[in-house]
Amino acid sequence: MKDLQQRYVGLMRRHVRSADEAALAAIAGIGCEMVAADLPIEEIAGFQEEAVLAVADTGEGGQLDETAVRRSSACLAELMIAYAVAYREKSALVERARAAREQHDRRLTALGQLVAGVAHELNNVLQPIRGMAELGLLDVPASGPLHTYFATVFDCAGQAAAIVRGILSYLRQEAPRPRPIALAPALERSVDFARMGLVPGSSLRLDIADRGAVVIGDESELTQIVVNLVQNAAKAVQGTGEVVVRLERPRQPRIPSGADDWPREVVTLVVGDTGPGMPAEVVARAFDPFFTTRAPGEGTGLGLAIVRGIVRAWGGEVAIDSAPNRGTRVVIELPMVRETGSPR
Ligand SMILES: Nc1ncnc2c1ncn2[C@@H]1O[C@H](COP(=O)(O)OP(=O)(O)O)[C@@H](O)[C@H]1O
Ligand SMILES: [Mg+2]
Repeated sequence: MKDLQQRYVGLMRRHVRSADEAALAAIAGIGCEMVAADLPIEEIAGFQEEAVLAVADTGEGGQLDETAVRRSSACLAELMIAYAVAYREKSALVERARAAREQHDRRLTALGQLVAGVAHELNNVLQPIRGMAELGLLDVPASGPLHTYFATVFDCAGQAAAIVRGILSYLRQEAPRPRPIALAPALERSVDFARMGLVPGSSLRLDIADRGAVVIGDESELTQIVVNLVQNAAKAVQGTGEVVVRLERPRQPRIPSGADDWPREVVTLVVGDTGPGMPAEVVARAFDPFFTTRAPGEGTGLGLAIVRGIVRAWGGEVAIDSAPNRGTRVVIELPMVRETGSPR
Protein backbone atom coordinates (compact mmCIF):
# COMPACT_ATOMS: atom_id res chain seq x y z
CA MET A 1 0.00 0.00 0.00
CA LYS A 2 2.88 2.35 0.85
CA ASP A 3 4.26 1.67 -2.60
CA LEU A 4 0.94 2.62 -4.28
CA GLN A 5 0.71 5.73 -2.16
CA GLN A 6 4.26 6.73 -3.07
CA ARG A 7 3.51 6.28 -6.74
CA TYR A 8 0.34 8.36 -6.44
CA VAL A 9 2.28 11.15 -4.73
CA GLY A 10 4.86 11.14 -7.52
CA LEU A 11 2.24 11.15 -10.29
CA MET A 12 0.24 13.93 -8.70
CA ARG A 13 3.37 16.06 -8.41
CA ARG A 14 4.04 15.46 -12.09
CA HIS A 15 0.52 16.42 -13.09
CA VAL A 16 0.42 19.52 -10.87
CA ARG A 17 3.77 20.65 -12.25
CA SER A 18 3.06 20.13 -15.97
CA ALA A 19 -0.59 19.04 -16.48
CA ASP A 20 0.87 15.77 -17.76
CA GLU A 21 -2.01 13.63 -19.16
CA ALA A 22 0.05 10.45 -18.98
CA ALA A 23 0.31 10.96 -15.23
CA LEU A 24 -3.50 11.08 -14.98
CA ALA A 25 -3.78 7.82 -16.95
CA ALA A 26 -1.25 6.20 -14.62
CA ILE A 27 -3.30 7.40 -11.64
CA ALA A 28 -6.28 5.50 -13.08
CA GLY A 29 -4.07 2.42 -13.05
CA ILE A 30 -3.38 2.97 -9.35
CA GLY A 31 -7.12 3.04 -8.65
CA CYS A 32 -7.41 -0.39 -10.28
CA GLU A 33 -4.46 -1.74 -8.32
CA MET A 34 -6.00 -0.52 -5.06
CA VAL A 35 -9.11 -2.58 -5.80
CA ALA A 36 -7.04 -5.59 -6.80
CA ALA A 37 -5.14 -5.30 -3.50
CA ASP A 38 -8.45 -5.09 -1.58
CA LEU A 39 -7.64 -1.65 -0.17
CA PRO A 40 -10.80 0.01 1.17
CA ILE A 41 -11.98 3.23 -0.47
CA GLU A 42 -11.19 5.17 2.73
CA GLU A 43 -7.48 4.77 1.95
CA ILE A 44 -7.92 7.25 -0.89
CA ALA A 45 -8.30 10.08 1.66
CA GLY A 46 -4.89 9.23 3.10
CA PHE A 47 -3.36 9.03 -0.37
CA GLN A 48 -4.73 12.45 -1.24
CA GLU A 49 -3.61 14.07 1.99
CA GLU A 50 -0.09 12.72 1.58
CA ALA A 51 0.07 13.91 -2.04
CA VAL A 52 -1.31 17.40 -1.29
CA LEU A 53 1.26 17.82 1.50
CA ALA A 54 4.03 16.75 -0.88
CA VAL A 55 2.87 19.18 -3.58
CA ALA A 56 2.50 22.04 -1.05
CA ASP A 57 6.06 21.38 0.20
CA THR A 58 7.48 22.33 -3.15
CA GLY A 59 5.29 25.43 -3.43
CA GLU A 60 6.08 28.68 -1.70
CA GLY A 61 5.26 28.74 2.01
CA GLY A 62 3.30 25.52 1.72
CA GLN A 63 0.47 27.20 -0.18
CA LEU A 64 -1.19 25.75 -3.29
CA ASP A 65 -2.08 28.23 -5.98
CA GLU A 66 -5.38 27.91 -7.82
CA THR A 67 -3.94 25.88 -10.70
CA ALA A 68 -2.32 23.45 -8.28
CA VAL A 69 -5.62 23.01 -6.41
CA ARG A 70 -7.49 22.34 -9.66
CA ARG A 71 -4.90 19.85 -10.89
CA SER A 72 -4.67 17.99 -7.60
CA SER A 73 -8.47 17.72 -7.53
CA ALA A 74 -8.36 16.31 -11.05
CA CYS A 75 -5.96 13.65 -9.78
CA LEU A 76 -8.31 12.79 -6.91
CA ALA A 77 -11.28 12.57 -9.27
CA GLU A 78 -9.33 10.29 -11.63
CA LEU A 79 -8.30 8.03 -8.75
CA MET A 80 -11.84 7.77 -7.35
CA ILE A 81 -13.49 7.12 -10.70
CA ALA A 82 -10.96 4.42 -11.59
CA TYR A 83 -11.43 2.90 -8.14
CA ALA A 84 -15.23 2.90 -8.50
CA VAL A 85 -15.19 1.34 -11.98
CA ALA A 86 -12.71 -1.36 -10.98
CA TYR A 87 -14.68 -2.05 -7.81
CA ARG A 88 -17.88 -2.58 -9.76
CA GLU A 89 -16.16 -4.96 -12.17
CA LYS A 90 -14.62 -6.95 -9.37
CA SER A 91 -17.93 -7.21 -7.51
CA ALA A 92 -19.58 -8.50 -10.67
CA LEU A 93 -16.88 -11.17 -11.01
CA VAL A 94 -17.23 -12.23 -7.39
CA GLU A 95 -20.99 -12.38 -7.80
CA ARG A 96 -20.72 -14.52 -10.93
CA ALA A 97 -18.36 -16.95 -9.16
CA ARG A 98 -20.74 -17.17 -6.20
CA ALA A 99 -23.71 -17.83 -8.49
CA ALA A 100 -21.78 -20.57 -10.32
CA ARG A 101 -20.84 -22.18 -7.01
CA GLU A 102 -24.43 -22.07 -5.82
CA GLN A 103 -25.68 -23.63 -9.02
CA HIS A 104 -23.07 -26.39 -8.64
CA ASP A 105 -24.16 -26.97 -5.03
CA ARG A 106 -27.80 -27.10 -6.05
CA ARG A 107 -27.01 -29.63 -8.75
CA LEU A 108 -25.08 -31.82 -6.31
CA THR A 109 -27.95 -31.60 -3.82
CA ALA A 110 -30.47 -32.60 -6.49
CA LEU A 111 -28.24 -35.46 -7.60
CA GLY A 112 -27.87 -36.54 -3.96
CA GLN A 113 -31.65 -36.58 -3.53
CA LEU A 114 -32.03 -38.61 -6.70
CA VAL A 115 -29.44 -41.15 -5.57
CA ALA A 116 -31.02 -41.30 -2.10
CA GLY A 117 -34.43 -41.95 -3.68
CA VAL A 118 -33.05 -44.79 -5.77
CA ALA A 119 -31.27 -46.22 -2.73
CA HIS A 120 -34.49 -46.23 -0.69
CA GLU A 121 -36.37 -47.98 -3.48
CA LEU A 122 -33.63 -50.57 -3.89
CA ASN A 123 -33.83 -51.18 -0.18
CA ASN A 124 -37.55 -51.90 -0.48
CA VAL A 125 -36.81 -54.54 -3.09
CA LEU A 126 -33.91 -56.06 -1.19
CA GLN A 127 -35.76 -56.62 2.07
CA PRO A 128 -38.21 -59.24 0.64
CA ILE A 129 -35.39 -60.95 -1.30
CA ARG A 130 -33.47 -61.39 1.92
CA GLY A 131 -36.55 -62.37 3.87
CA MET A 132 -37.63 -65.00 1.34
CA ALA A 133 -34.10 -66.39 1.09
CA GLU A 134 -34.08 -66.72 4.85
CA LEU A 135 -37.38 -68.60 4.79
CA GLY A 136 -35.98 -70.79 2.01
CA LEU A 137 -32.94 -71.57 4.15
CA LEU A 138 -35.21 -72.83 6.92
CA ASP A 139 -37.27 -74.95 4.52
CA VAL A 140 -34.61 -76.92 2.66
CA PRO A 141 -32.22 -79.58 3.97
CA ALA A 142 -28.99 -78.04 5.21
CA SER A 143 -26.85 -80.41 3.17
CA GLY A 144 -28.36 -79.98 -0.32
CA PRO A 145 -27.39 -77.56 -3.09
CA LEU A 146 -30.60 -75.56 -2.59
CA HIS A 147 -29.33 -74.59 0.81
CA THR A 148 -26.17 -73.18 -0.78
CA TYR A 149 -28.24 -71.29 -3.36
CA PHE A 150 -30.45 -69.73 -0.74
CA ALA A 151 -27.44 -68.93 1.45
CA THR A 152 -25.78 -67.10 -1.43
CA VAL A 153 -28.95 -65.13 -2.22
CA PHE A 154 -29.30 -64.31 1.47
CA ASP A 155 -25.68 -63.12 1.77
CA CYS A 156 -25.72 -61.13 -1.43
CA ALA A 157 -29.01 -59.42 -0.62
CA GLY A 158 -27.57 -58.57 2.79
CA GLN A 159 -24.47 -57.10 1.22
CA ALA A 160 -26.50 -55.17 -1.34
CA ALA A 161 -28.57 -53.75 1.53
CA ALA A 162 -25.32 -52.77 3.26
CA ILE A 163 -24.18 -50.97 0.12
CA VAL A 164 -27.47 -49.11 -0.02
CA ARG A 165 -27.05 -48.24 3.67
CA GLY A 166 -23.55 -47.02 2.88
CA ILE A 167 -24.81 -44.75 0.11
CA LEU A 168 -27.49 -43.36 2.40
CA SER A 169 -25.01 -42.80 5.20
CA TYR A 170 -22.62 -41.18 2.72
CA LEU A 171 -25.43 -38.84 1.76
CA ARG A 172 -25.86 -38.32 5.52
CA GLN A 173 -29.38 -39.60 5.57
CA GLU A 174 -28.49 -42.26 8.08
CA ALA A 175 -25.91 -42.30 10.85
CA PRO A 176 -23.35 -45.16 10.86
CA ARG A 177 -22.95 -47.21 14.03
CA PRO A 178 -19.24 -47.88 14.41
CA ARG A 179 -18.06 -50.37 17.05
CA PRO A 180 -14.82 -52.28 17.68
CA ILE A 181 -14.12 -54.93 15.06
CA ALA A 182 -11.22 -57.35 14.80
CA LEU A 183 -9.81 -56.36 11.45
CA ALA A 184 -8.11 -59.59 10.28
CA PRO A 185 -11.08 -62.01 10.40
CA ALA A 186 -13.48 -59.32 9.13
CA LEU A 187 -11.09 -58.67 6.27
CA GLU A 188 -10.95 -62.38 5.41
CA ARG A 189 -14.73 -62.48 5.14
CA SER A 190 -14.82 -59.25 3.12
CA VAL A 191 -12.19 -60.49 0.68
CA ASP A 192 -14.05 -63.79 0.25
CA PHE A 193 -17.12 -61.76 -0.57
CA ALA A 194 -15.29 -59.47 -2.99
CA ARG A 195 -13.87 -62.56 -4.72
CA MET A 196 -17.39 -63.70 -5.58
CA GLY A 197 -17.81 -60.65 -7.81
CA LEU A 198 -14.68 -61.32 -9.85
CA VAL A 199 -14.36 -63.33 -13.03
CA PRO A 200 -13.22 -66.87 -12.10
CA GLY A 201 -9.45 -67.31 -12.16
CA SER A 202 -8.72 -63.70 -11.20
CA SER A 203 -5.75 -63.38 -8.94
CA LEU A 204 -6.69 -61.82 -5.61
CA ARG A 205 -4.29 -62.33 -2.74
CA LEU A 206 -4.84 -61.48 0.91
CA ASP A 207 -1.78 -60.82 2.98
CA ILE A 208 -2.25 -60.27 6.71
CA ALA A 209 0.84 -59.17 8.64
CA ASP A 210 -1.00 -58.42 11.87
CA ARG A 211 -3.83 -60.45 13.33
CA GLY A 212 -4.34 -58.41 16.49
CA ALA A 213 -5.58 -55.13 15.06
CA VAL A 214 -8.89 -53.83 16.34
CA VAL A 215 -10.47 -50.72 14.82
CA ILE A 216 -13.68 -48.82 15.43
CA GLY A 217 -15.83 -49.49 12.40
CA ASP A 218 -18.55 -51.63 10.94
CA GLU A 219 -18.08 -54.94 9.15
CA SER A 220 -20.54 -54.34 6.34
CA GLU A 221 -18.91 -50.98 5.71
CA LEU A 222 -15.53 -52.72 5.64
CA THR A 223 -16.95 -55.09 3.04
CA GLN A 224 -18.06 -52.11 1.01
CA ILE A 225 -14.59 -50.63 1.16
CA VAL A 226 -13.00 -53.90 0.09
CA VAL A 227 -15.54 -54.63 -2.66
CA ASN A 228 -15.19 -51.14 -4.14
CA LEU A 229 -11.40 -51.16 -4.09
CA VAL A 230 -11.06 -54.73 -5.31
CA GLN A 231 -13.48 -54.03 -8.17
CA ASN A 232 -11.45 -50.99 -9.25
CA ALA A 233 -8.22 -52.98 -8.98
CA ALA A 234 -9.66 -55.96 -10.88
CA LYS A 235 -10.87 -53.66 -13.67
CA ALA A 236 -7.37 -52.15 -13.78
CA VAL A 237 -5.54 -55.47 -14.16
CA GLN A 238 -8.16 -56.99 -16.50
CA GLY A 239 -7.30 -60.54 -15.54
CA THR A 240 -3.63 -60.23 -16.45
CA GLY A 241 -2.15 -58.86 -13.27
CA GLU A 242 -2.35 -59.24 -9.55
CA VAL A 243 -4.56 -57.67 -6.91
CA VAL A 244 -3.29 -57.74 -3.34
CA VAL A 245 -5.15 -56.79 -0.19
CA ARG A 246 -2.65 -56.30 2.61
CA LEU A 247 -3.09 -55.58 6.29
CA GLU A 248 0.17 -54.14 7.57
CA ARG A 249 1.66 -53.94 11.03
CA PRO A 250 0.70 -50.91 13.16
CA ARG A 251 2.93 -47.92 12.58
CA GLN A 252 2.93 -44.16 12.73
CA PRO A 253 0.54 -42.48 10.31
CA ARG A 254 2.00 -41.21 7.05
CA ILE A 255 -1.01 -39.75 5.30
CA PRO A 256 -1.28 -36.04 6.12
CA SER A 257 -4.58 -35.33 7.83
CA GLY A 258 -6.45 -32.13 8.67
CA ALA A 259 -7.70 -33.62 11.94
CA ASP A 260 -5.71 -32.48 14.98
CA ASP A 261 -6.65 -35.52 17.06
CA TRP A 262 -4.89 -37.79 14.55
CA PRO A 263 -3.73 -40.95 16.34
CA ARG A 264 -0.12 -41.83 17.08
CA GLU A 265 -0.51 -45.34 15.77
CA VAL A 266 -2.53 -46.63 12.84
CA VAL A 267 -3.23 -49.92 11.11
CA THR A 268 -2.72 -49.76 7.39
CA LEU A 269 -4.87 -51.48 4.84
CA VAL A 270 -3.59 -51.46 1.29
CA VAL A 271 -5.31 -52.57 -1.88
CA GLY A 272 -2.70 -52.71 -4.61
CA ASP A 273 -2.79 -53.70 -8.24
CA THR A 274 -0.33 -54.04 -11.10
CA GLY A 275 -2.66 -52.28 -13.56
CA PRO A 276 -1.91 -49.22 -15.72
CA GLY A 277 -2.02 -46.76 -12.81
CA MET A 278 -3.49 -43.26 -12.95
CA PRO A 279 -2.18 -39.96 -14.27
CA ALA A 280 -1.88 -37.19 -11.69
CA GLU A 281 -5.05 -35.42 -12.84
CA VAL A 282 -7.10 -38.58 -12.26
CA VAL A 283 -5.50 -39.13 -8.83
CA ALA A 284 -6.41 -35.54 -7.96
CA ARG A 285 -10.10 -36.09 -8.70
CA ALA A 286 -10.54 -39.81 -8.04
CA PHE A 287 -12.28 -39.27 -4.67
CA ASP A 288 -14.73 -36.71 -6.06
CA PRO A 289 -18.29 -38.01 -6.04
CA PHE A 290 -19.45 -38.88 -9.57
CA PHE A 291 -15.94 -38.59 -11.00
CA THR A 292 -15.34 -41.48 -13.37
CA THR A 293 -13.20 -42.14 -16.42
CA ARG A 294 -15.27 -45.16 -17.39
CA ALA A 295 -17.73 -45.38 -20.27
CA PRO A 296 -21.32 -44.34 -19.49
CA GLY A 297 -23.07 -47.15 -17.64
CA GLU A 298 -19.82 -48.72 -16.51
CA GLY A 299 -19.01 -46.54 -13.54
CA THR A 300 -20.90 -44.36 -11.11
CA GLY A 301 -17.84 -42.51 -9.86
CA LEU A 302 -19.13 -43.14 -6.33
CA GLY A 303 -16.82 -46.01 -5.32
CA LEU A 304 -13.88 -44.05 -4.00
CA ALA A 305 -16.08 -41.26 -2.65
CA ILE A 306 -17.95 -43.80 -0.55
CA VAL A 307 -14.71 -45.44 0.57
CA ARG A 308 -13.36 -42.10 1.75
CA GLY A 309 -16.66 -41.22 3.44
CA ILE A 310 -16.55 -44.46 5.45
CA VAL A 311 -12.84 -44.23 6.29
CA ARG A 312 -13.22 -40.68 7.56
CA ALA A 313 -16.33 -41.58 9.55
CA TRP A 314 -14.09 -44.13 11.29
CA GLY A 315 -11.56 -41.41 12.09
CA GLY A 316 -9.10 -42.60 9.42
CA GLU A 317 -7.68 -41.28 6.18
CA VAL A 318 -7.16 -42.69 2.70
CA ALA A 319 -4.71 -41.80 -0.06
CA ILE A 320 -3.88 -42.99 -3.56
CA ASP A 321 -0.34 -43.84 -4.57
CA SER A 322 -0.34 -44.25 -8.32
CA ALA A 323 1.31 -43.15 -11.54
CA PRO A 324 1.08 -44.29 -15.15
CA ASN A 325 2.68 -47.73 -15.63
CA ARG A 326 3.38 -48.01 -11.92
CA GLY A 327 0.18 -49.67 -10.78
CA THR A 328 -2.02 -48.35 -8.00
CA ARG A 329 -1.99 -48.59 -4.23
CA VAL A 330 -4.94 -47.32 -2.26
CA VAL A 331 -3.67 -46.84 1.29
CA ILE A 332 -6.06 -46.63 4.23
CA GLU A 333 -4.90 -45.69 7.72
CA LEU A 334 -7.24 -46.43 10.60
CA PRO A 335 -6.75 -45.41 14.23
CA MET A 336 -5.53 -48.40 16.20
CA VAL A 337 -7.37 -49.42 19.34
CA ARG A 338 -6.29 -52.00 21.86
CA GLU A 339 -7.62 -55.48 21.67
CA THR A 340 -9.94 -54.65 24.57
CA GLY A 341 -11.43 -51.90 22.47
CA SER A 342 -10.26 -49.05 24.72
CA PRO A 343 -8.87 -46.14 22.71
CA ARG A 344 -5.12 -45.66 22.86
N1 LIG B 1 -7.09 -49.33 -9.25
C1 LIG B 1 -7.25 -48.35 -10.15
N2 LIG B 1 -6.43 -48.25 -11.24
C2 LIG B 1 -6.59 -47.26 -12.15
N3 LIG B 1 -7.56 -46.30 -12.05
C3 LIG B 1 -8.40 -46.34 -10.99
C4 LIG B 1 -8.30 -47.35 -9.99
N4 LIG B 1 -9.25 -47.13 -9.06
C5 LIG B 1 -9.93 -46.03 -9.47
N5 LIG B 1 -9.43 -45.55 -10.63
C6 LIG B 1 -9.88 -44.35 -11.35
O1 LIG B 1 -10.66 -43.55 -10.48
C7 LIG B 1 -11.97 -43.33 -11.03
C8 LIG B 1 -12.98 -43.25 -9.92
O2 LIG B 1 -13.14 -44.52 -9.29
P1 LIG B 1 -14.48 -44.84 -8.50
O3 LIG B 1 -14.76 -43.72 -7.55
O4 LIG B 1 -14.39 -46.21 -7.94
O5 LIG B 1 -15.61 -44.74 -9.62
P2 LIG B 1 -15.88 -45.73 -10.86
O6 LIG B 1 -15.14 -47.01 -10.60
O7 LIG B 1 -17.36 -45.89 -10.86
O8 LIG B 1 -15.37 -45.00 -12.07
C9 LIG B 1 -12.15 -44.45 -12.02
O9 LIG B 1 -13.05 -44.09 -13.05
C10 LIG B 1 -10.73 -44.68 -12.53
O10 LIG B 1 -10.41 -43.74 -13.54
MG1 LIG C 1 -15.21 -48.03 -8.80
